[in-house]
Amino acid sequence: MVRTTKKEQEMKQFHLFGNLKMNLNTQELNSYLPKLAQVANQTNHVVGVCVPFVYLPQTSQALKGSKALFGVQNIHPANSGAFTGEISTSMASEFGAKLVIVGHSERRALFLESNQFVNQKLLKVLESGLTPILCVGETLNQRNEGKTFDVIREQLTQGLDGVNKDQLNHLYIAYEPVWAIGTGVSATSSDAENGVKFIKDELTKLYGKRQVKVLYGGSLNEKNAKELLSQPSIDGGLIGGASLKMETFEQIISTQI
Ligand code: PGA
Repeated sequence: MVRTTKKEQEMKQFHLFGNLKMNLNTQELNSYLPKLAQVANQTNHVVGVCVPFVYLPQTSQALKGSKALFGVQNIHPANSGAFTGEISTSMASEFGAKLVIVGHSERRALFLESNQFVNQKLLKVLESGLTPILCVGETLNQRNEGKTFDVIREQLTQGLDGVNKDQLNHLYIAYEPVWAIGTGVSATSSDAENGVKFIKDELTKLYGKRQVKVLYGGSLNEKNAKELLSQPSIDGGLIGGASLKMETFEQIISTQI
């Protein structure tokens, strides 16, 4: 039996997931994934990575037996059919994928995904026993127009349409202000906290008091991780750029509060 010290028991457990987007190749993953497995096994945090789906076989092989979770960045809600370029939840599951990012702002903006389509995906992911990470967040224009919380509320309520209380235990929400994604300019810790807390309060209004894990994403890196993760409502992070190198991802994962 592995004994945990009192100090370890008191440390907050975070949920820290990398989003590789369309980056890294077989060779790079050959060195990245074994290190991720090692780091995931040595931390008290829940750690995972969402890979380009062509690397699922390699990822499932490399992470076999480790505590690291893995998954995909998108799926189609249908079981099968004429959907050129898409993959289904059962295809992802075949390789042991657990996580599915749903409604990432890049999918919403570049591939014109509506809240309704995001909702169909989310319901399918839950029905398939996988864990969605539902991303919500405002653009800079929406923030400047004072619409931040309206946008989050709409993405949240429409994205979660038809989700029941029990299913809430099997999903993550990520607050990702669009203007902070990939820009190197993270939200301030208080903006991040306010967004995440707003989401938790909205969930309480919709479902009653529940323990939903809400992450922050948007230029979270090894330098600002401690400050962002110190915020009382933030349960972890969805990390793009800083997850591409194990050195920086590992530093984020080493955060203890
Ligand atoms: P970033 O991406 O950390 O590079 O800003 C976060 C995300 O898109 O989930």
